[in-house]
Amino acid sequence: MSLLQTLSQELQQMSSAGTLKRELKLKGPQGAIVDVDGFGEVIMLTSNNYLGLADHPGIVEAAEKAERDYGYGLASVRFICGTQTIHRTLEEKIAEFLGTEDTILYGSCWNANEGLFQTVALEEDAIISDELNHASIIDGIRLAKAKKERYKNRDVDDLRRALEATKDARNKLVMTDGVFSMEGSLAPLPEMVELTREHGAFLVVDDSHGTGVLGKTARGTAEELGVFGKIDAYTSTLGKALGGSHGGFTTGPKVLIEYLRQKSRPYLFSNTLPPAVVMGSIAAIDLVQRDHSFVTRLRENTQYFRAQLTQHGVPVREGIHPIVPILIGDTAKAITMSNELLTRGVYVSGFGFPVVPQGAARLRCQISAAHTREHLDRAIGAIVELAGKYDVLAA
Ligand SMILES: Cc1ncc(COP(=O)(O)O)c(C=O)c1O
Repeated sequence: MSLLQTLSQELQQMSSAGTLKRELKLKGPQGAIVDVDGFGEVIMLTSNNYLGLADHPGIVEAAEKAERDYGYGLASVRFICGTQTIHRTLEEKIAEFLGTEDTILYGSCWNANEGLFQTVALEEDAIISDELNHASIIDGIRLAKAKKERYKNRDVDDLRRALEATKDARNKLVMTDGVFSMEGSLAPLPEMVELTREHGAFLVVDDSHGTGVLGKTARGTAEELGVFGKIDAYTSTLGKALGGSHGGFTTGPKVLIEYLRQKSRPYLFSNTLPPAVVMGSIAAIDLVQRDHSFVTRLRENTQYFRAQLTQHGVPVREGIHPIVPILIGDTAKAITMSNELLTRGVYVSGFGFPVVPQGAARLRCQISAAHTREHLDRAIGAIVELAGKYDVLAA
């Protein structure tokens, strides 16, 4: 069979199983309300635009000005001729925001994770990773030659076992998502800080869904859980709360950042972030640091949405994060509900097997500071009605 026949056959199978992903087309910017080709204006309840900054006028203006002042692109990687003053400004700003010593920018958080493990963890080292960590962490770890050990999701006792199982390694690196994106659950960072210190391990948190989202001043999962300043290093993204454009970073001790700058392959061999993204991200961080009302509104919206759904008997996974999974069970039902919600003006993604375990399909709602009470009430009304229709309400 030819390659294309093989691929085509598999696509057919995915189509029959209803697991083909479709991409709806937005006809304008990302926001609380989006104009979806073929569906019109709907409430966006499934983006990572947590603070509502994706179409913020101040950020758009900063990006436009950057193109006028610094051009469209650098046509280079950083160490050849792709570093502008603004790249260093953004790196220092991120370090100040997250309470670390220095930062290295990458094209994405995917690249940051891909560039970390293979660079710092060699044969004589060990990487210990939560079983539900993001795909970019899993793939990044695959590239490293270190011994690999997995522990059960958020299970501190199993982490202790993994640390003991790797006690002979030269260096131990423990890696966790700050927020698990299919669950909206938080890593037990206070216990992890204690345990990694006890075992002389280095703790890295991918806080892509925590940065700009959690904590009183939006500094992330560690701030939320009272261990800000105690995490050894972070990876995170500029593509979610902090403007929602593109880019990622690793931030931590100076020596780690300098080492990555010298040796990390996605940094050395891939183009630098364009000026518009750099200046847009600087504007986003400035805004978040200056004005805590964004993160306060996000928290209030999340509490309201979670409380209303729960009160109406909708089976919401408990938590505090603006990722609010509604447990449906059956994949086909979750997909049907997602499609029907869209026709009723609410855009929510349905996730089923193999993205989540068999029988654990869900609708994943994500709240934004940009949602008004009226948006949330409309969305809640539609969800409650459909939950009744499809028999997923608690008895
Ligand atoms: C935990 C986590 N890490 C990394 C990424 C990748 O981020 P980026 O889009 O910057 O590559 C994501 C995005 O979905 C994520 O949720």
